[in-house]
Amino acid sequence: MPIIAPSVLAADFANLQRDVEMLNQSQADWLHIDIMDGVFVPNISFGMPVLASLQRHAQKPLDVHLMIVQPERYLEEFKKLGAEYLTVHQEACTHLHRTLQQIKQLGMKAGVALNPHTPVQVLEDILQDIDLVCLMSVNPGFGGQKFITQTYQKVQKLKAMREDIGAKTLIEIDGGVNMDNAKLLIEAGADVLVAGNFVFSSPNPAQMIAELKAL
Ligand code: DX5
Ligand code: ZN
Repeated sequence: MPIIAPSVLAADFANLQRDVEMLNQSQADWLHIDIMDGVFVPNISFGMPVLASLQRHAQKPLDVHLMIVQPERYLEEFKKLGAEYLTVHQEACTHLHRTLQQIKQLGMKAGVALNPHTPVQVLEDILQDIDLVCLMSVNPGFGGQKFITQTYQKVQKLKAMREDIGAKTLIEIDGGVNMDNAKLLIEAGADVLVAGNFVFSSPNPAQMIAELKAL
């Protein structure tokens, strides 16, 4: 069964407690939290005070996706804010291996996100050190974008790399996930599906989560 991680970016920020409680009651496995700095990506989402409030209500693991430059400056802070998985972008980290070690030393699971243009092979030599690879299936920065179909091949390549090495890395897909692509993604090897607009633009978000979970 896939791990389902609804993206809080698509929630109603004026009713965050309501939406988080809906997620608590739903079949969602994790809460996906998008942090954007307006520099690494052309958008700003929300920051630490919002995450602190979210953490007080969330009863599921927080999967924090940092779309920020120099993420190494904030690792400890995100640990304090309750991140279970902390994902940094490969494109934002000059010393990615060091940053991953630091995330793990702080007691979190270490994730690496790849933009659509970044080949999965860039992670070949450190895959055994990565708990989760987040393949971006849209250009990061905004919810509600169209899924990039090249992602299927990236999932297959990453899955083959994982098998070669014998790593246990989870493969997560982020961006444009919906009922048209979710099953194909799972068949290609995806373990975790992030879904923002597909879940929250529905009149019955919990039902959408249940449908993804049942794939
Ligand atoms: C995009 C974010 C995604 C986004 C997904 O930069 O990383 O997590 O919230 O939203 P949807 O599912 O609407 O594409
Ligand atoms: Zn994300």
